[in-house]
Amino acid sequence: MTEKDFIPKPYTKTLENGSFTWSSPSNIALVKYWGKREHQIPENPSVSFTLDHCKTITTLSFSKKESNAAFSFDVFLDGEQKDDFKPKIETFFKRIESYLPFLSEYHFKIETSNTFPHSSGIASSASGMSALALCLMSVEKELIGTISEVYFIQKASFLARLGSGSACRSLEGDLIVWGIHDEIDGSSDLYGVKYPYDVHQNFKNYQDTILLVDKGEKQVSSTVGHNLMFGHPFAQQRFEQAHENLSKLKAIFKEGNLDEFIKIVESEALTLHAMMMTSMPYFILMKPNTLEIINKIWAYRSETNSKVCFTLDAGANVHVLYPENEKDNVLKFIESELVVYCQNGHYISDQIGFGAKLIVNNL
Ligand code: DP6
Repeated sequence: MTEKDFIPKPYTKTLENGSFTWSSPSNIALVKYWGKREHQIPENPSVSFTLDHCKTITTLSFSKKESNAAFSFDVFLDGEQKDDFKPKIETFFKRIESYLPFLSEYHFKIETSNTFPHSSGIASSASGMSALALCLMSVEKELIGTISEVYFIQKASFLARLGSGSACRSLEGDLIVWGIHDEIDGSSDLYGVKYPYDVHQNFKNYQDTILLVDKGEKQVSSTVGHNLMFGHPFAQQRFEQAHENLSKLKAIFKEGNLDEFIKIVESEALTLHAMMMTSMPYFILMKPNTLEIINKIWAYRSETNSKVCFTLDAGANVHVLYPENEKDNVLKFIESELVVYCQNGHYISDQIGFGAKLIVNNL
């Protein structure tokens, strides 16, 4: 598939108004996407677990308008009009207009809400952009008449990527790869694909408890963050390392070797932060409590036979990952030793999920 394959033929159906509601989850990367080229093309492949409880629910209502001159839309978060969200969506619409030529023909009302608190420091761009892309694809599906399930999801992922790179990994589950990798058939820089090989039972229902260390606004936006990889002295080595780590994970997923899994996942998280610490300008996005938590996890692991590990996004919050059969013990450990490091004691219990869902089709 190339970009051109996502440009539709002239629509044969008409549609006056209606609405669609989709829910779409967040995801947590095991091999991180950090660094991109023009048109949201990743510098390296990444792989993520799709989450289950952390999701965005978006209703897109649309009605045909008189003039096609400009985009027309309103955005609401939890029922409140959010004009500060508009520039990001305007940019998104501009990027995808050639793939969805109906965009300027309708007025849209975008009503969105998240299952996780807005100010939790959890990025909502992955779940938010994927939910919006799916709503838009539901409109296009009606205008075309029939499209295959595969094309629908592929194009929705392609569009979501143009909104926010990691969003293209949120549509399906439970393991999604984005970015070309030699050893992963069907992998693409343009959209996420389901991980196509055997995955050991050890990874089924994997748990992710998100410790909210810092619920503030992101200190470094992802756009600024990705740009730090231009001219970064270690960029090329990092991109190669991501390829190698994904190759190693392929064997790990098959064999279920959790000790090796931990090594890759924790190293990826620390490498992401090391890239930020060694860029110009440089940033430290971990907080003292992030390090306290990491040290506690390491101590717990060496004292018990636990396979609990951590990963981080571009912020201070910690994702604690562990197999389902350790759920009771690890939750006790989190309650007794880690919750003190969370802002207001807040954390979110989540686990691997299976992707987005159409909730309402209102035509
Ligand atoms: C650290 O997908 O938020 O979470 O494409 O600029 O929207 P944009 O970036 P974004 O970057 C996420 C980076 C990461 C790692 C990852 O999810 O792979």
